Amino acid sequence: MGKKITDKVTWVGKVDWELNYFHGHEYSTSKGSSYNSYLIRDKKTVLIDTVWLPYDQEFVSNLKKEIDLKEIDYIIANHNEIDHSGALGELMREIPETPIYCTANGAKIIKGHYHQDWNFVTVKTGDTLNIGESTLTFVEAPMLHWPDSMMTYMSGENILFSNDAFGQHYATESLYNDKVDNCELFAEAIKYYANILTPFSRFVTKKIEEVLSFNLPLNLICTSHGVIWKNEPAQIIEKYMEWANNYQENQITIIYDTMWESTRKMGEAIAKGIMETDPSVTVKLFNASKEDKNDIITEIFKSKAILVGCPTVNNGLLHSIAGILEMAKGLKFKNKKAAAFGSYGWSGESVKQLTEKLKDAGFEVINDGIRSLWVPDCDEVTKLVDYGKSYVSMLK
Ligand code: FEO
Repeated sequence: MGKKITDKVTWVGKVDWELNYFHGHEYSTSKGSSYNSYLIRDKKTVLIDTVWLPYDQEFVSNLKKEIDLKEIDYIIANHNEIDHSGALGELMREIPETPIYCTANGAKIIKGHYHQDWNFVTVKTGDTLNIGESTLTFVEAPMLHWPDSMMTYMSGENILFSNDAFGQHYATESLYNDKVDNCELFAEAIKYYANILTPFSRFVTKKIEEVLSFNLPLNLICTSHGVIWKNEPAQIIEKYMEWANNYQENQITIIYDTMWESTRKMGEAIAKGIMETDPSVTVKLFNASKEDKNDIITEIFKSKAILVGCPTVNNGLLHSIAGILEMAKGLKFKNKKAAAFGSYGWSGESVKQLTEKLKDAGFEVINDGIRSLWVPDCDEVTKLVDYGKSYVSMLK
């Protein structure tokens, strides 16, 4: 059911408490998500975005309780990934002539997904739509995070409908950022940035600088996932500027997989060496086969350096480590140092392969890594502790 945000704007989206994965199984959503859609009632009536396809009938049925669909003058499709455009088919069956405002790329994407030639009105940055007391201004935001992405600013109410930008996969019935657990909220916001927006960071910085240069008053940022930023909405903009600027904390993350615990013991000995040399640094260890992959990516995002460990198996790597490094490569992390480690019994190629993959993924590899034959004994553990000490010294 709808939730009133201002006199003119009502939230008409779907909170999805059950969602465990997003983008297929590529993104874990342990806190669920929401697909936020907004109904604006001024002299004209406008619907901004819809919801994910499985909820299309529920969405349209609820929308009918808010308004006679024939009263909708315009639909604005800020971004047309299926989680936002999924209910268009169901909606357009009822109001097929209603104009859909979107970018030129948006029209192509909608046609490609739904194979319908609806009444598209393509817009560019600076184009406006007067709807009565308020005016809507469109701001293209290509690659934040799709080619079609745009934002819509509503004057008078001073609302930025930002779509995916500033969002989080976070289910809440409370709508606003000051009504939820802020530890959870920011954990989901940084996870979202790390796993989705990292490769587009230079566009994030440019777009935010452009939007700020308009000096528009801002009361609310209405995202398409998670909370509406109502209390100090600029705080999430400031966070994005920080995250987009080669973000790192004083953290070293050790990611490994292990078959018979030798590589785990190596990682723990290296961690000991790091902590003995620099107690101020946060060291975290994750077994990639047990820990959530997107949480590991978030920890890499927060790190100034990482170590990746894997035993050699069948002349190669374990799949969990290969998978994490493939994800990291796509995300194009910048300004992070790295090295590799791993146990072996005979051929022992893993460290060399890890080193190459780390370089390929854009990490600055600071040494050739370290290997241990079979199970590390006391002397080997001492060597690994010393390696940890030298690793942290090399970061300075
Ligand atoms: Fe929330 Fe890019 O879709």
